[in-house]
Amino acid sequence: PVPVIAIDGPTASGKGSIASAVAEALGFDCLDSGVLYRLTAWAALRQGVALDDSAALAQLAATLPVSFAAGRIHLNGQSFDAAQLRTEAVGQAASTIAALPAVRDALFALQRSFRRAPGLVADGRDMGTVVFPDAQLKVFLTASAASRAERRYKQLISQGNPAILGDVFAELLERDARDTQRAVAALKPAADAELLDSTDLSLEQTVETVLALWRR
Ligand code: CDP
Repeated sequence: PVPVIAIDGPTASGKGSIASAVAEALGFDCLDSGVLYRLTAWAALRQGVALDDSAALAQLAATLPVSFAAGRIHLNGQSFDAAQLRTEAVGQAASTIAALPAVRDALFALQRSFRRAPGLVADGRDMGTVVFPDAQLKVFLTASAASRAERRYKQLISQGNPAILGDVFAELLERDARDTQRAVAALKPAADAELLDSTDLSLEQTVETVLALWRR
């Protein structure tokens, strides 16, 4: 089977950066599954679809005419930068709709379709538990809440988004609670996942650790 490396973990654990660096080192494709939840939430906010209207949201998710080319996302003939999806408002909305089973079901096949030779690195919350349970390597990436908040804060500031560290920390705890307590696909490590705590590791050291686990 086409190899898959699943990288799951809480918000701001560095999954995205680690996944893309690992994919680049191995020449694999990369799936940032959070983008699909963010896209669905973004489309719902724009179209005025209520965030608890499960049927309408699932319909949106199922018909995302999404393609990713040259780092840009194309949706309904409109092209935009992934950074537009990275706002806290879209993140909170994404985590709200991600609790709906109908939305998760609607995105399931789309996520699996990214598994193509020579391999895939997929990051999210349920890559190792639900979407790619047969992944050859599963990593559960954590870091302390304080260090995750600090990383997210620096990222927001560097993108020119005004942010207050205390607010970032509070929002992070809120999202952790929602993602770990929901009834479906709650955030938890797969039974066969490698736990990797990156609190005291640099990005490079974390990437090297994942690559060493892969080569092992
Ligand atoms: O890294 P960060 O948490 O900021 O964002 P993300 O990975 O883009 O995910 C945004 C939200 O989508 C998360 O809070 C999750 O609730 C949801 N999500 C999910 O439920 N399952 C996934 N595989 C990926 C994201």
